[in-house]
Amino acid sequence: MPRRKIIAGNWKMNMTPSEAVELIETLKPLVVNEDVDVLFCVPAIDIIPAVEAVKGSNIMIGAENMYFEDKGAFTGEISPAMLTDAGVKYVIIGHSERREYFAETDETVNKKVLKAFEYGITPIICCGETLTQREQGVTIDFIRQQIKIAFLNVTPDQAASAVIAYEPIWAIGTGKVATTQQAQEVCKAIRDCIAEIYDDAVAASIRIQYGGSVSASSAPELFAQPDIDGGLVGGASLKADFGQIVCYNK
Ligand code: 13P
Repeated sequence: MPRRKIIAGNWKMNMTPSEAVELIETLKPLVVNEDVDVLFCVPAIDIIPAVEAVKGSNIMIGAENMYFEDKGAFTGEISPAMLTDAGVKYVIIGHSERREYFAETDETVNKKVLKAFEYGITPIICCGETLTQREQGVTIDFIRQQIKIAFLNVTPDQAASAVIAYEPIWAIGTGKVATTQQAQEVCKAIRDCIAEIYDDAVAASIRIQYGGSVSASSAPELFAQPDIDGGLVGGASLKADFGQIVCYNK
């Protein structure tokens, strides 16, 4: 069965609750594509009004982060039960900005991935190399390490339903999109790594997104690659351009 594309916006730390509702109203008619799962990952405080605002549309709402404990004395954190109760089905885990500014590690990513699955939330597991790593030729080794640790103790069924986002750090927010060949090469290497950890069936089922300066002009070629199943879009997801990205095949 061919994999269904999944195109997600990552709003990062943008949009107040009222701005969120306004943006959703603007984008709603523009992001209709029956071939694609459309997801807006929004700041925690925007989740409840966003879930309300997308009712009756094809848009799903996801979170940008989640803690790996069920509940308790973890001031400022958001629990998996809070997300499911609010209507969230997807959560971004281990974005490079969280790794860089909030000290997330491969180990905390793994804990969060396991906890998300426990609550029936699909994790979008982020990986990606720095410019130095790319220039030193260690990109694939580094990504394989990130993937292997992220998937520790994840069952084959869970892995088959997961989403991985390959986001080269040097391409995030820089306007410097990876070439189609670079993106496809790493997404294929990720799929091969999943086949090694599990088997070909899990590898064929898992969805792998590309992220990093995706735009309306780069999306069609990127998403046509055999191992790229959609995108995780930052800046361009806050504008009408996101409609063109979602409708990349029209
Ligand atoms: P940009 O699309 O703004 O480069 O951000 C990519 C990203 O980090 C998505 O998670």
